[in-house]
Amino acid sequence: MSWIPWMLAALPIAAAGAASATPAPPAQLGLCAACHGEDGHARIPGAPDLAGQSYPYLLQALHEYRSGQRNVPVMRAAAGPLSDKDMQALAHWFAAQSPCKPGRAVTP
Ligand code: HEC
Repeated sequence: MSWIPWMLAALPIAAAGAASATPAPPAQLGLCAACHGEDGHARIPGAPDLAGQSYPYLLQALHEYRSGQRNVPVMRAAAGPLSDKDMQALAHWFAAQSPCKPGRAVTP
């Protein structure tokens, strides 16, 4: 049950998120915005919406791109230079954004 540690790891962060308001935009957000949008609402077809996705899921995905376990060149390039702290900040940011409406059009 590999998801259990991720769930537990997210608990203090969820609590911190509730105490402070919206997190500040991470410094590396500009590396992601062209495809995923600053608000996590995808800007290009084929890029997934990240808004409102769970923190542990986003963080795990970023680790998997950086390690090459998920071998998608475009995301390996984006995640390659990120530190663990960067990934946490980005996952926290996108998890805190309002989810997209189903069926919306993807526009730049
Ligand atoms: C050039 C476009 C592009 C850029 C820039 C980009 N991504 Fe992505 N991202 C994608 C695509 C395409 C996928 C789908 C890849 C796949 O099939 O696994 C993806 C997937 C993801 C996923 C997995 C989502 C899921 O539902 O599994 C996460 C998390 C993610 N990106 C975060 C980021 C972050 C954080 C950044 C900035 C550091 C970033 N991306 C930059 C195009 C991009």
